Amino acid sequence: MGRFYITTPIYYVNDAPHVGHAYCTVNADAMARWHRLVGDDTKFLTGTDEHGQKVADAAAKNGVSIQEWTDQTSRRFREAWDTLGISNDDFIRTTEPRHYESVQKFLMAIYENGYIYKDVYQGLYCISCEDYFTLESSDDGKCPIHGRLLTEMEEENWFFRLSAFEDRLLEYYDAHPGFVTPETKRNEAYSFVKGGLRDISITRTSISWGVPVPWDEQHVFYVWYDALINYLTAIGYGRDDDEVGEWWPWSHHLIGKEIIRFHCVWWPAMCMAAGLEPPSHVQVHGWLLVGGQKLSKTMAAEGAVRLSDISPVVLTNEFGVDPIRYYLLRDTSLGNDGEFSLEGITHRYNTDLANNLGNLVARVTTVVNSKCAGKGPAPRTDSPLRVEAELVIHETAAAWNRFAPQSALEATWRLIGSTNAFLEQNAPWKMEPGRDVDDVLGDALEAIRLVTVLATPAMPGVCEEIWRRIGLGGSPIDEIFERSAVWGRYPGGRDVEKGDPLFPRIKSGA
Ligand code: MSP
Repeated sequence: MGRFYITTPIYYVNDAPHVGHAYCTVNADAMARWHRLVGDDTKFLTGTDEHGQKVADAAAKNGVSIQEWTDQTSRRFREAWDTLGISNDDFIRTTEPRHYESVQKFLMAIYENGYIYKDVYQGLYCISCEDYFTLESSDDGKCPIHGRLLTEMEEENWFFRLSAFEDRLLEYYDAHPGFVTPETKRNEAYSFVKGGLRDISITRTSISWGVPVPWDEQHVFYVWYDALINYLTAIGYGRDDDEVGEWWPWSHHLIGKEIIRFHCVWWPAMCMAAGLEPPSHVQVHGWLLVGGQKLSKTMAAEGAVRLSDISPVVLTNEFGVDPIRYYLLRDTSLGNDGEFSLEGITHRYNTDLANNLGNLVARVTTVVNSKCAGKGPAPRTDSPLRVEAELVIHETAAAWNRFAPQSALEATWRLIGSTNAFLEQNAPWKMEPGRDVDDVLGDALEAIRLVTVLATPAMPGVCEEIWRRIGLGGSPIDEIFERSAVWGRYPGGRDVEKGDPLFPRIKSGA
């Protein structure tokens, strides 16, 4: 049994949650559920990033105080995650007193270790990114990500001596080949460090909406600089050293590809400067795109996409919670960009869920009722499905372990396919009640039981319902994976319920 501390980025509260955020949160949730299933001590953190100019501007635009605005919007994120069945153990808001305390202690440690100094900063700023650009790194004076004209800023700021960590970061990367995955993203971060690091400005005097700098009350910390520390706040940094020791550095940060530099360069250097180990792993994911364009709140505000169509809550009302979770996990491999579309969801729903999984459960439960008086028979030890099932168990587990939910589900669905083919070959619905029918259905019920164990991190609700329909008490997560994912555990003699279709087919274009 290990330790697994997984985090999502904390989301800006300038607007409501959208399906791009849901993509990241559902992936983190499935990973957390997988690790709980194998018996690891697991902690799953998500939350909201509430400082910075962008959030202050959104509040002003909506005519409410910043605190009121952040309370309201942060609540919307929590509600969206409740709707999506997200099992986070903590939800952090960067405006909480515990965060102020950890940030101030962490930065004081860096200050005392001599890595912070005062200087004048001049640069081009993008409010949407909350980030500085040089003329060379800009797109002709415009933000390369948002296309907005950058603002000239000049301020006397406190700086973090990032340049002092170039060699140490490269050494860390060399000694920890799995620090950033996938490898293409690791190479991107590595080249960034190799290309030379400049010190970064970490405080602002132009706004007061932020965490005050403990040694200079005129300044607040730059939003990114306080935000990254949330990962430590939630495990008690500066408040409970034992708790920090329990979870750090066994941390896995799941992040989108545009925030690699912050997480794979700044953050490990900040940890080193404060005298801590860097996080053990950063898993980078790509973007969900609509017609080739990233779904961001900023672009939607500019009219490029209609976010009203892609609110996670609206989607779950339309398709159901587990189908949306399944689609987000199954359609795009973690690390690549994916195309998001309603047609794509409908297609996955009808093929993988209605035709494959739903059909398998419907067939088996129906025939158990018509040929076995509703009592599920036990599987055979030497079932023809057993070899395939064992291979699938192995591949599915290996894929979850390497942060590859898409491959995990692909493997699990092979067992569904093989079981459907096995049923077609044997056609138990045409057989007379008796031993042969019992053998075929016992094997199929066992395959279904295994599928629910394997797919529960992705679709916890549906898997629990199938578990119940095949007459098993409790839920597929009651036992640890090592014991439950073993061929032959379906006990037989249980009442099997036919029930309504799990996934009624959707007409294309719905
Ligand atoms: N607040 C910072 C993160 C601070 S973490 C210490 C931030 N917030 S964000 O709300 O703009 O983005 C949060 C995450 O959502 C990022 O990882 C980003 O990649 C992800 N997504 C936003 N739009 C997305 C898509 N269209 N597709 C997939 N993920 C996307 O950055």
